[in-house]
Amino acid sequence: MNELHHFLQTRRSIRRFKPDPVPAPVIKRILATAIFAPSAHNLQPWRFVHVESDLSKEKLGNALTEKMRTDMDAEGADPAQIQKRVEISIRRIDEAPVIILLCRDVTAIRKSEPEEEIMGIQSAALGGLQLMLAAHAEGVGANWICWNLYAQAETRLALDLPKSWQAQAMIFLGYADEEPKKASRKSVDELLTHR
Ligand SMILES: Cc1cc2nc3c(=O)[nH]c(=O)nc-3n(C[C@H](O)[C@H](O)[C@H](O)COP(=O)(O)O)c2cc1C
Repeated sequence: MNELHHFLQTRRSIRRFKPDPVPAPVIKRILATAIFAPSAHNLQPWRFVHVESDLSKEKLGNALTEKMRTDMDAEGADPAQIQKRVEISIRRIDEAPVIILLCRDVTAIRKSEPEEEIMGIQSAALGGLQLMLAAHAEGVGANWICWNLYAQAETRLALDLPKSWQAQAMIFLGYADEEPKKASRKSVDELLTHR
């Protein structure tokens, strides 16, 4: 029991990866565990896109950074600052050995009601968390990148995805090339109320 608590408490976001590939059977095991996450009505709305080839990463990186350029330009950002952000972002995508794009199938819903939509988003997120924990179990580092939320159409177009797949996050996977700082958390006492 204590070991499981320790395991859960030691998962950390990993943002620097060694260039070593993550073997295909490892990715398969991670996804096979991810799909055991709970989901509302057991509708399993999560969909996964495995992005690993240079070509796919390039398409995705270009699409996301084009949108980034447009958005930052509209906000009046300095062109040099935009260029710097674009270059860093392209490099991050390029350096991630594997990207699993976590999507939600918006048609995997019982009724078209706002509450059911929230349940779908919550369910997809739990699939993402379980994926990250399964990666941790495999000694594979992971980080959740929310960027696609701002570039839905661009993400779909770049990876030729069905219209009903709504991108939730890119989960970068790879072997850690950093020792993350100690996790910072509020205490349970600050977060818990008794009634
Ligand atoms: C919904 C969500 C969005 C996140 N977006 C990003 C992101 O875009 N970029 C990033 O580097 N980390 C992102 N993170 C990771 C958080 O920054 C990280 O989980 C948090 O700082 C706690 O650190 P830990 O995961 O190492 O415990 C995201 C996490 C979640 C749950």
